[in-house]
Amino acid sequence: MSIETYDAAITLSPDFRVGRVDPRLFGSFLEHMGRAVHGGVFEPGHPEADDEGFRTDVLDLVRRLGTTAVRYPGGSFVSGYRWEDGVGPREHRPTRLDLAWHATETNAFGTDELMRWCRRADVEPMLAVNLGTRGVQEAVDLVEYCNHPGGTRLSDLRRAHGAEDPYDVRLWFLGNEMDGAWQIGHRPAADYGRLAAATGRAMRMVDPRIELVVCGSWAPASATFATWESAVLQECYDTVDHISLHSYHDPTGRTPAAYLATAHELDLAIDAVVATADHVGAALRSPKRLQVAVDEWNVWYRSRWIDPDPDRWPQAPPLLEDTYDDLDATMVASLLVTLLRHADRVSLACLAQLVNVIAPIRTDPGGSAWRQTTFEPFARIAAAARGEVLRVEPRVATYEAEAGEVPLLDATATYDEESGAVVLVLVNRSETSTARTRVALRGFPQATLDGARELEVAPLSWTVVDLGQRA
Ligand code: AHR
Repeated sequence: MSIETYDAAITLSPDFRVGRVDPRLFGSFLEHMGRAVHGGVFEPGHPEADDEGFRTDVLDLVRRLGTTAVRYPGGSFVSGYRWEDGVGPREHRPTRLDLAWHATETNAFGTDELMRWCRRADVEPMLAVNLGTRGVQEAVDLVEYCNHPGGTRLSDLRRAHGAEDPYDVRLWFLGNEMDGAWQIGHRPAADYGRLAAATGRAMRMVDPRIELVVCGSWAPASATFATWESAVLQECYDTVDHISLHSYHDPTGRTPAAYLATAHELDLAIDAVVATADHVGAALRSPKRLQVAVDEWNVWYRSRWIDPDPDRWPQAPPLLEDTYDDLDATMVASLLVTLLRHADRVSLACLAQLVNVIAPIRTDPGGSAWRQTTFEPFARIAAAARGEVLRVEPRVATYEAEAGEVPLLDATATYDEESGAVVLVLVNRSETSTARTRVALRGFPQATLDGARELEVAPLSWTVVDLGQRA
């Protein structure tokens, strides 16, 4: 049987740059949900657990994944969370109902553990504050607890809990998905925008160096997508630095090509959020430009969701433990291509989530930790993408999908002037044909690079190639 091929052509030049590869583009997300924290990163008594109860086998995989930052503690969980429950001696920590996921939360793992875990994992902690059931004061208190050096009640409390130096958390999320009707404390856009502005301003009074992310819509499919963003930003544009966007992709009921084409929906959603934010900025005559924080993105088989039993409040029940296949790995590669392509306006992104819950890393209780298929593209691309993203416009055929005309070949490239690495990431969305891709390199200072290369990518697969390294 002859293998079908189609031709694609790409020209790369260091003169056409999109933006810097911000390490935070390879962030992830750890929520108190299912077995992400309890039984995921934290399992006291596990043979691989360290003195803190952190699973060292999971820590090892997190380092190998190459994630740079972690968003915590939610997610929908944060909208009912009292941060004070999760600090100080464990024997004094209260057990609470988690209304978001209909579970029981012991609070044995909280902000102090997260900070120590992040240090061991070598990742940046990023914290969300509860704007569902709480407000300005509690958020300000958490910034004081984390970032104030000492000499006040809350900073001294942190020191009493063993952290002499401030945690110095730079990035803060002002709530989570506040447009979602199911969100605890959900409120109308203008109300939320005013609360976000007041909270953000007060948090900055404690620490002026922090960056703030305001909630965009729960999904581009939301009926109020863009309207919500516009109304929220009119209230808080001057205060915030980033606006969030969530993007989950479900293969259920789609052909492989139609599923992979949904990455293009993320392209369109980013453009829409940028346009909406810029419109508000222009109307306010503001020279400031906001960044987009894609702080939840991944493959999620939403159709597999089972509603919790209303009579039970289990501790760390297995939730959203999706098992991924090779096609899902290709999807993750394509979503990373999309994020990199928008490096001029997408400042940070969080693979949602990190362990067990729709995650690249899975664990067995008391047993092993292992990598899912989606681990590989994330790890490979996070390790290779350095320097600046180059503009890539593949000359290739398109096909019709829900989101419109989508190129058969999805591509991005990065160029690291220092090392000379020119990294090309290619995703072939064709179900039947290999992509025969001719890559022309023009005008690189390392003259040896210039010339042409031919690369083949199998149907429904992805590849990462460093063209700076000559064979
Ligand atoms: O990642 C799982 C959930 O998806 C998060 O808690 C919420 O923000 C989103 O709807």
